[in-house]
Amino acid sequence: MVMRKRLVVLTGAGISAESGIRTFRDMGGLWEDYDVMEVASIDGWKKNPQLVLEFYNQRRRQLETVHPNIAHKLLAEAEKDFNVYVVTQNVDNLHERAGSSNVLHLHGELTKARPAGCPSKVIDIGYKDINWGDTLDGFQLRPHIVWFGEEVPMLNEAVKLVQTAEIFAVIGTSLNVYPAAGLLDYAPKGCPIYVVDPNEINLWRRDVTVIKEKASVGVPKMLEMIKHA
Ligand code: OAD
Repeated sequence: MVMRKRLVVLTGAGISAESGIRTFRDMGGLWEDYDVMEVASIDGWKKNPQLVLEFYNQRRRQLETVHPNIAHKLLAEAEKDFNVYVVTQNVDNLHERAGSSNVLHLHGELTKARPAGCPSKVIDIGYKDINWGDTLDGFQLRPHIVWFGEEVPMLNEAVKLVQTAEIFAVIGTSLNVYPAAGLLDYAPKGCPIYVVDPNEINLWRRDVTVIKEKASVGVPKMLEMIKHA
């Protein structure tokens, strides 16, 4: 019997770019139009929750209109050959919609909400807006998103996955945001590491194969390389 290798993939906004979702820090990225601290931080939420709700309502409405692209689909198909674990910084659901079975969301999920005073009570809301005044258990509902200034509850689970990777791939993330970016340090020594990104990114490890392509080109290339490795 052939043992399938554990392929752990860290994805960021770049993998969803070709589905039509804007990245954050590229030219034309979301943080050109919005102040990140106003719309994506716990302080922003305390200052102007309506603005924050509207920002995520727009993201959620758009998510309903877009589709997984070839890169998401190929990672789902790769489950035929590998035990694939996706750790994503993305709050979209495109990995799941492409068919990936193991998806860990480090920064939360757009299609979920929770009462502001009750972090563990997460509910599915689909693509519905969250409005000011929508409550559960007496608390205002908020997006189930990890904001700047908040803990990343899924981090330990993600670290464990990366530590046990036999192949590690990083796709479409500028590796600027911690602690997610620090996951790169947990890939075991000797584990082949691939990076797919069309631009120069903030890389500090040398034992990395860089595929300087968009995800739609780079992901199939990477999968070919690891299938024949
Ligand atoms: P960034 O916007 O920082 O980086 C996106 C990366 O995708 C860049 O390195 C681009 O070069 C690359 N890219 C662009 N188009 C691509 C394509 N077609 N194929 C592959 N790569 C492409 O996004 P993230 O690194 O995901 O968090 O950002 C991390 C976190 O910062 C996000 O989760 C979000 C944000 O603030 C929160 O809001 C909490």
